Amino acid sequence: MVSQGHPRQGSDWVAKIPEDVIETVRTATNIADVVGQYVQLKKSGKNLFGLCPFHEERTPSFSVSEDKQIFHCFSCGRGGNVFKFLMELEHVSFPEAVVKVADFSHVDLASEYRQESTGPAVDSKTGQLLALHEQASKLYHHILVNTEMGQPALDYLHDRGLTDETIETYQLGFAPGQRLLKPFFEQRQSDYQLLRQTGLFIENTDGELRDRFTERVMFPLRNASGHVAAFSGRLLKTAPDQPKYLNSPETSLFNKSRLLFNFDLARPAIRQAGEVTLFEGYMDVISATQAGVLNGIASMGTSLTTEQIYAIERTTDRLNVCYDGDEPGQRAIDRALRLLGEHSHLQLRVIQLPEGEDPDEYRKAHGDEAFRQMLETAKEPPLQFQLRYLRRSQALNTDSERLAYVNQVMPLLAQVTEPVELDLYLNQLTTELGIDKAALLAQLKQVQRDSAAQQERQRPAQQQQPAPSEPVMTVHQQQRPLNRLERAERSLLYRCLHDRNVWTRVSDVPNFSFVHEDYQVIYTLAQGYFQTHQDYQAAQFTDFVQEDRLQQMVIDLETTNMAAAVTPREIDDYLAVIMDQAPVDAQLRQKKQQLAEAARLGDADQQRQLVVEIVQLERQRQANKPV
Ligand code: GTP
Ligand code: MN
Repeated sequence: MVSQGHPRQGSDWVAKIPEDVIETVRTATNIADVVGQYVQLKKSGKNLFGLCPFHEERTPSFSVSEDKQIFHCFSCGRGGNVFKFLMELEHVSFPEAVVKVADFSHVDLASEYRQESTGPAVDSKTGQLLALHEQASKLYHHILVNTEMGQPALDYLHDRGLTDETIETYQLGFAPGQRLLKPFFEQRQSDYQLLRQTGLFIENTDGELRDRFTERVMFPLRNASGHVAAFSGRLLKTAPDQPKYLNSPETSLFNKSRLLFNFDLARPAIRQAGEVTLFEGYMDVISATQAGVLNGIASMGTSLTTEQIYAIERTTDRLNVCYDGDEPGQRAIDRALRLLGEHSHLQLRVIQLPEGEDPDEYRKAHGDEAFRQMLETAKEPPLQFQLRYLRRSQALNTDSERLAYVNQVMPLLAQVTEPVELDLYLNQLTTELGIDKAALLAQLKQVQRDSAAQQERQRPAQQQQPAPSEPVMTVHQQQRPLNRLERAERSLLYRCLHDRNVWTRVSDVPNFSFVHEDYQVIYTLAQGYFQTHQDYQAAQFTDFVQEDRLQQMVIDLETTNMAAAVTPREIDDYLAVIMDQAPVDAQLRQKKQQLAEAARLGDADQQRQLVVEIVQLERQRQANKPV
């Protein structure tokens, strides 16, 4: 087993993790638990299904097999074992993934394997940019908690009710009003071009860099993998001519329509609670954490985006919106609810704060316990919010105002399916508006009839779409239809790997080889694998195989639909197809090479001759295929 780790910058020597240690980690872990931290999985047949975390999709084509301890996406083709999952998702090296899984499963690892994973891999540009952010974050934090320069900012945060523990957890910092990062990085001889790309500097016309953040309390913005990818800096004292919060500009690390504040830390709590709470501000999230509410996140001070909704929906199916109790907050709730309703299947609740308060102020004013209770008791269904929201913006003094209001409300009520709930709303309206309930009911019926008729008109178009929750099992097969030869090769290789009798049978065939080189390479690698392993485990074999493309093929093999029992006849058939095809394919390859050579030499006669032969061979090859 070769460690796929990369040497670190100014590198300490790091021990290679031995295979038996890797095995211990793997066997102590259920891949479904690890994947379950990121993807909502639902059982369907033998496997678990969910929305693929590697690309956007609306119907689940991502599956996890607990039997085989592998994941596979039918749509994008990615697959592998638990280590591979983390490598791909969090962009970490193999040893880092092993360390992460070990920590997840509480397996003690010797510290010599651990040094490797103290930060992001630094071999790539992304890694280097992340490393600079990490260093900047540590420096800002140091200034805040250990220096006189940072004292006013520290006082400010304490004053806002944050404990040292919270300040530590969020690595809050302070950027003082003078040059800081520039001399710090210069003294470390950081690359100028790289520094420019961090977004941590402002560049003047001469290309000279200066610190972007000055006199600001610094909030590191971590990406979904927990690495600092940007900063937001808050003015100590708000000034009319400056933004209260200043964010890093968009960089290759930071896309503000994707990043969700605190998502990395909140994810386990979200999974555990089965729901997420969306706040408006960073301080609200941090405040909630301090009150023991760990499943809070926030968008980047901008409206929620569909990308963020997608990331949330992959993790949970319940979301609470907890925005400020002021007018802009209410408008933002209305906007968020519409967007969420349109772009997700999330079950939504609104947490309504008292007029004019924001969550952080509420906690400060009423205490942690009251804050936690408020989050539970102030929850209301979106409809209730929408009714109140509509109501507050209208005077309702005249008949025509009241009528206009009723017309706005009815389409909302028409969506209520619970008779009791509907009755409550109707009673509420009756008292509020002084309109007869029977009249309201009649109007509601009319609206319902209209919308039913409209749905009827739209139905034919809708019916053609597949049911949304059905796992799309066959996409991958559809994407690349296999010919008869390749089907035989795949099936035979699968049988060889999974059945020692078949393995022996095939190795006894003189001169046998797979036609496609990749299958042959996997077969040859398996020979080595079986020298040290009794049983075949795909999740283990992929590590042995190492090369990415071959790993994918091995995982792909596992998703072949194979009958449980193998028959001798079946194996003979595969062998016949492969052995029969092999010579034709070999000849074809040779003729094509000769043709290329003839073309290069400009030998027209030879070219004509070869083309005829190639056509004949192709025909022969076609004849071997099924219709
Ligand atoms: P505090 O005043 O520190 O309590 O902040 P808050 O969390 O109450 O912020 P507020 O409700 O004013 O704004 C909510 C979120 O909007 C903040 O967390 C920021 O993400 C964002 N925001 C606020 N002001 C600005 C600004 O001036 N510029 C930018 N880019 N974002 C802002
Ligand atoms: Mn606030």
